[in-house]
Amino acid sequence: MAEESAATFELTLNGERQIVDNAPTTTTLLDHLRQSGFVGTKEGCAEGDCGACTVAISAEDAGGEGQYQAVNSCLLPLAAAADRHIITVEGIARSELHPVQKAMVDGGGSQCGYCTPGFIMSLFAAYYAGNVDDRALEGNLCRCTGYLPIRRAAASLGRPAEDDPFTVTLDGLSPRLPERTYRYDGQAFFRPADLRSALQLLQTYPKATLIAGATDLGVEINKHRRRFATLISLEAVKELQGVTETDGHLRIGAAVPLSHLESVCQGIFPALDEMLRWFAARQIRNRATLGGNLGTASPIGDLSPVLLALDAEVEVAGPAGGRRIDIASFFTDYRQTALEPGEIIVGIHIPKTPPPGTARRISRSYKVGKRGTDDISIVAAAFTVDLDEGGTVVQARLAYGGVAATPVRAEGVEAFLTGKEWTLETVSEAKTQLFEAFTPLSDLRGSAGYRRLLSGNLLEKFYQETRTEADR
Ligand SMILES: Cc1cc2nc3c(=O)[nH]c(=O)nc-3n(C[C@H](O)[C@H](O)[C@H](O)COP(=O)(O)OP(=O)(O)OC[C@H]3O[C@@H](n4cnc5c(N)ncnc54)[C@H](O)[C@@H]3O)c2cc1C
Ligand code: FES
Ligand code: FES
Repeated sequence: MAEESAATFELTLNGERQIVDNAPTTTTLLDHLRQSGFVGTKEGCAEGDCGACTVAISAEDAGGEGQYQAVNSCLLPLAAAADRHIITVEGIARSELHPVQKAMVDGGGSQCGYCTPGFIMSLFAAYYAGNVDDRALEGNLCRCTGYLPIRRAAASLGRPAEDDPFTVTLDGLSPRLPERTYRYDGQAFFRPADLRSALQLLQTYPKATLIAGATDLGVEINKHRRRFATLISLEAVKELQGVTETDGHLRIGAAVPLSHLESVCQGIFPALDEMLRWFAARQIRNRATLGGNLGTASPIGDLSPVLLALDAEVEVAGPAGGRRIDIASFFTDYRQTALEPGEIIVGIHIPKTPPPGTARRISRSYKVGKRGTDDISIVAAAFTVDLDEGGTVVQARLAYGGVAATPVRAEGVEAFLTGKEWTLETVSEAKTQLFEAFTPLSDLRGSAGYRRLLSGNLLEKFYQETRTEADR
């Protein structure tokens, strides 16, 4: 990889080129902005929850075109912003207010000014992406004006004009990220463009940390003050991008942002659609990846139960070559995976065809948290039940997060269901078995007993909600 300009990198801030040459790799974009005088962008929680720090960055949309995306600048390491165009609230008004600002003023959507810049930037990105809806605002908290005037302001927005300066700029932006090396005071940030280079870097720096969307690592950096000597960004690695169909499987690149999956995979796997619906908020989904969700090996990672219920395989690459790991054996212990040193998750393969003998497949996912959006699961569950013509279970997959040290399937109960008629009676017996299947922990979010109850109750909910599909 090119090292010539390793002491500096460039970004464009509100249309002005900036050269960064004096910042640790783990400085956040938010800190950099505020230190550079762009104090309109606020810090609230510093962990991705409140949206006060929202800015728009140039990025690829699911079709590879340039787009503005709302992101939490408190989570984004500055080096990950290299070569991007960043727009803050200071950069959007011209001789008059930007249409988004005007809508908020006219609608009375602003009071304290602390949360407002974040709302404005979320709406700004959605205005140009053509997806202004409630979901555009789910990652922004307001504690004083209330959401009604803000929602009214959003609803009053039209579409940008063709000669809108931001539409014009977007047309001129190259969304592809080039490879990049940045070094500062013993720290290094590498952004290779292909898998071979990424694997080589991992050989050279065996203690390096892989970084994708940084929605998890950003919290480590901010809240837990962790520092990383060497970061290898996977954002530009082409083998980790794209969603393709191969031999009856859907292959999802490990570094594809979840917001792309929402549109590209829509309607293929209902369990995935539903879980993405409740996954964090748009700013996080614009950055978070499937590879990162598996990489954390969190017992409450929401996408793991979905992948377990769909019998996915994890494609990995390392010094010894490539291999596929059955997701059921991917999580080996609390926050441990089957990845060998030097290995990277490259993609996730989800079979599209149910096992032989299946006449109907029913599949759904559920997330129980303390609030609807932008919350951590108490229990997440994903179920796939394949039925034959007569309504007998050919294969069942019952997968959970939040009930054990790893995401886990209830294999004993799956075996019990196989060959049984899919009836309320069968499900009731399965519920009883599920109550004994796991030994979850009690914590601030929920007691062990509540989690055990949920594991069975969610199965019954699944049965009731999908009855008409199962009978079809
Ligand atoms: C406000 C907020 C809300 C959240 N809500 C949810 C939620 O609703 N549900 C949920 O499940 N999670 C949630 N998360 C956690 C986080 O967003 C997810 O785990 C996300 O999928 C991580 O992806 P990332 O690309 O950002 O990973 P990163 O932060 O970049 O990396 C996470 C870990 O994975 C490793 N890694 C990344 N890519 C790879 C790869 N290709 N191969 C091997 N290792 C890799 C990294 O080294 C690191 O250890 C939330 C986080 C925040 C801050
Ligand atoms: S400061 Fe709260 S999301 Fe960034
Ligand atoms: S107007 Fe600031 S918290 Fe809502």
